[in-house]
Amino acid sequence: MNVIISGASKGIGRALAELFASKGANLAICARSVEDIGAFGNELAEKYKNQHFIAVAADMSKKDSIANFAAEIRQHWSHVDILINNAGVFIPCLLADPNTVEAFEQMMDTNLYSAYYLTLETLPLMLPHNSGHVFNICSIASIMPYGAYAVSKHAMLGFSKALREEMKDKGIRVTAILPGATRTASWDGSPLPEERFMKAEDIAEAVWACYNLSSNTVVEEMILRPQLGDI
Ligand SMILES: NC(=O)c1ccc[n+]([C@@H]2O[C@H](COP(=O)([O-])OP(=O)(O)OC[C@H]3O[C@@H](n4cnc5c(N)ncnc54)[C@H](OP(=O)(O)O)[C@@H]3O)[C@@H](O)[C@H]2O)c1
Repeated sequence: MNVIISGASKGIGRALAELFASKGANLAICARSVEDIGAFGNELAEKYKNQHFIAVAADMSKKDSIANFAAEIRQHWSHVDILINNAGVFIPCLLADPNTVEAFEQMMDTNLYSAYYLTLETLPLMLPHNSGHVFNICSIASIMPYGAYAVSKHAMLGFSKALREEMKDKGIRVTAILPGATRTASWDGSPLPEERFMKAEDIAEAVWACYNLSSNTVVEEMILRPQLGDI
């Protein structure tokens, strides 16, 4: 099983990588920090000696960097079973504030265009096999207007729906995962107690469960919220 996960050195991406590695998957993972992704890649390779790990520093907000990551994957693999578009950032900005235009663009590039370009690069490794599963890590902000961030995540959900339509007769499943608040580094500094958040490991388990249904079935969208509701 060959699995690509973007933004995998921390948080939900890391939990996904740890779970899929424990299930025997070969992984291609990336993050911007070469130290972080290199150390995690080495850790996985040390623990799972018979599996193949490609751990690359890549900035998913940049088209060239996505192309380089994909080229590295193609050098080693001729097919991909699962693509998890996870890389994403929350940058506080206001749609009416001309001073946060760049922040908004950065968020759209990281949260939406990264998934579009990485999917474009990956589909040629799925289509010839008439199989594959694309997971897009959306957000509860894909259905709730939680700030300018919600624009990128609504778009990610729209991308998931349109891609599913295109792929449904090609054996490729497309699942949108919509998590609410999940305890990761992106919440560092929050005064809220641990129990207000979901665990990243639970999101990973949900993805694994969706993947394991038979190919007759696609989970189109999965909403996960903290038991006590949105923050
Ligand atoms: N945590 C939540 O409450 C929550 C809720 C709903 C949805 N989500 C979504 O879940 C996904 C993961 O969030 P998270 O909370 O796990 O984030 P996180 O803990 O901040 O981790 C983000 C990961 O992505 C990498 N990354 C960030 N920007 C990148 C870029 N431009 N190119 C490549 N890698 C990049 C980071 O490494 P580097 O910094 O080294 O690049 C890190 O490995 C995001 O799409 C987020 O929007 C999160």
